Amino acid sequence: GMDVKTAPASTFEVSSPNVVYTDDSVKAKYTYRTTDVSLVDGKMQAKPKETVYDFQTGTKIGKVGVMLVGLGGNNGSTVTAGILANRRKLEWETREGPRKANYYGSVVMSSTVKLGTDSTTGKDVNIPLHDMLPMVHPNDLVVGGWDISKLNLAEAMDRAQVLEPTLKGLVRKEMVNMVPLPSIYYPDFIAANQGDRADNVIAGSKASMEHVEHLRKDIRDFKSTNNLDRVIILWTANTERYAELTPGINDTAVNLMAAIKAGNEEISPSTVFAVASILEGAPFINGSPQNTFVPGCIALAEKHNAFIGGDDFKSGQTKMKSALVDFMINAGIKLTSIASYNHLGNNDGKNLSSQKQFRSKEISKSTVVDDMVAANTVLYKEGEHPDHTVVIKYMPAVGDNKRALDEYYAEIFLGGHQTISMFNVCEDSLLASPLIIDLVLIAELFTRIQWRKDGEQDYKSFHSVLSVLSYMLKAPLTPPGAPVVNALAKQRSALVNIMKACVGLEPENDMGLEHKLF
Ligand code: NAI
Repeated sequence: GMDVKTAPASTFEVSSPNVVYTDDSVKAKYTYRTTDVSLVDGKMQAKPKETVYDFQTGTKIGKVGVMLVGLGGNNGSTVTAGILANRRKLEWETREGPRKANYYGSVVMSSTVKLGTDSTTGKDVNIPLHDMLPMVHPNDLVVGGWDISKLNLAEAMDRAQVLEPTLKGLVRKEMVNMVPLPSIYYPDFIAANQGDRADNVIAGSKASMEHVEHLRKDIRDFKSTNNLDRVIILWTANTERYAELTPGINDTAVNLMAAIKAGNEEISPSTVFAVASILEGAPFINGSPQNTFVPGCIALAEKHNAFIGGDDFKSGQTKMKSALVDFMINAGIKLTSIASYNHLGNNDGKNLSSQKQFRSKEISKSTVVDDMVAANTVLYKEGEHPDHTVVIKYMPAVGDNKRALDEYYAEIFLGGHQTISMFNVCEDSLLASPLIIDLVLIAELFTRIQWRKDGEQDYKSFHSVLSVLSYMLKAPLTPPGAPVVNALAKQRSALVNIMKACVGLEPENDMGLEHKLF
């Protein structure tokens, strides 16, 4: 085993009476400033409000592992190869010349945030988001997991048809030795056309406590074999159909556990994985659109103070949508329709060619502009909404290079129109893999962050539902009753500014007064 690593020497230190560094933590007293609005005599009254929080972030990063459900899929094999390539600093030849391993597309690894302004030159000082707080480096992640297909990862990588042959050649030797653990397979939940790859399954075709215990043991074994301090579990397996929500079955934690014991056929494999992870105290993230987190599952996570996050990676078309619609509506342009067409030829597309699984994706893709529309009461009357349609077709020839065609139709000044037509070729697994890394890194970070209100004795964790992961997800899960934020810029600000608050720094306000008032 490896020694527990301390954070690499931080690139900066905060000099403030509100921030204290200890051997194994950074503690910050942070004043959260918001505005309370109330109606007084028919007039809105806005009142500045201050809440003081103490944040405490553990700075000792242990050894971290990630277990992927769907390890042998396009995403699973691509992210695994990508981590190996980065760890070994590989370079390979392509027809466009040599390429080097990188983490492009990871907001944590490859984007920067403003730390402040240089005290002498007044210029912005930017640092990688990864340096804002001590975070695990993806090169240090131990990767494992399950798949209903038993191909080793070298063969899985060939099946995926994503990576250059020269790169594949460099990682084959290691990947050939990686074989997914057998998984649970309830054929009714994924498309029938997936049946022929299910040759690596645990006995039993509906939920059971044996399955929960089997998966829990897999997690424990992975942890002990690899000497890990923490394991994150992430579902990147096929999109399942929705599970029916039934009172008495999956509405409460107790009912959900009883339904699993009774072998109820509406409990999906992804929910069984979530339950096993929750019971092991391992954060569980759902990268697919189905309703894994039935109310009973969310309640179970809350009961066990375990972290969950989801749903559905936001990689290509929807990421553009949540940026573009944010821009249009905030520019005062009245978006009136969005037509989204996709065609893709990978196994995800094959699975989605089945109606019930497509329906999960359709739901996930269709709610992504709701909050932006609802926020603009000038353009939209209450309940008014742009038309929005989503079509997905399976087209084997284009493989993993998904095509996304979008038309945005809007009403502008004095009855005019703006039409934006977009053609987006999304190399699906190369977009999704860095999101998997971000989800794991951020979830791991939040296992080390605690907070309390000023004056309280005990620290506690963030809410079980990690909505701070929203930037990477199409249909962000939020704590029961909490609003969903889809707007991409807001999601990023929330993440960055919460991380800044943990070291006692103010949110980025972009006012730039130092360059305007002199
Ligand atoms: P894939 O079909 O190549 O991989 C899924 C893997 O899961 C397969 O190897 C399959 O054998 C395995 N699997 C199915 N049921 C399983 C179970 N019960 N237990 C363990 N393994 C199981 O799909 P891909 O392209 O890797 O995508 C994975 C998921 O991520 C899909 O649900 C997709 O909708 C979702 N997603 C992908 C995005 C992207 O690639 N850009 C974006 C958004 C979501």
